[in-house]
Amino acid sequence: MTFAMAGLLDRAPVIPVLTLERVEDAVPLGKALLAGGLPVIEITLRSAAALDAARAMIQALPDALVGLGTVLDRAQLHAAAEIGAAFAVSPGASAGLLQAAQAEDMPPLLPGAATAGEVMTLREAGYRDMKFFPAEVAGGIAWLKAVQPVFPDCRFCPTGGVSAERAPDYLSLDNVACVGGSWIAPSAAIRRGAWEEIEQRARAAAGVKK
Ligand code: 3PG
Repeated sequence: MTFAMAGLLDRAPVIPVLTLERVEDAVPLGKALLAGGLPVIEITLRSAAALDAARAMIQALPDALVGLGTVLDRAQLHAAAEIGAAFAVSPGASAGLLQAAQAEDMPPLLPGAATAGEVMTLREAGYRDMKFFPAEVAGGIAWLKAVQPVFPDCRFCPTGGVSAERAPDYLSLDNVACVGGSWIAPSAAIRRGAWEEIEQRARAAAGVKK
């Protein structure tokens, strides 16, 4: 069986990766990202407010495809399913998490890989769409070019250290479906409620050619 992200990686060139400290930021932030043209949104499970914030965004913004990120174990994957997340993202993969992801009613998982061995493990488990994390320190564009002829059937979403300046170079690669990153909505900008600024960054990111 092949686990596809069901076209999620093709919806926009950039997935904004968000860490939310306050639940009340979720809806205005989601609106800004949607207005800027980025409908696929990842909320990381790195804050106490993350789950409630994701739930609020999902309920208020049906046009957004909101996933949970930094999913490390079965319990967190189940939480993603419970709140109706459109997808889940993990920085790497464990046998337990991959097994849990096979159960019915689980959201599609975008598992992380950073070595050829990890890509092989994910391929064997049926994955072809993967997060490449942490992209910049794990080899960046050179790594992606090197693995392309080895795994021509795999597509990556490089995340971790990708910036507005680097995104076009990543997106020019055939094996990059989209990129992820926090630069569109950094925590400081969220804290300030800088929704217009975030919308502008989203618009610029959405306009990068894949
Ligand atoms: C992630 O969780 O995917 C990354 O931490 C996002 O990386 P960035 O903050 O370097 O964009």
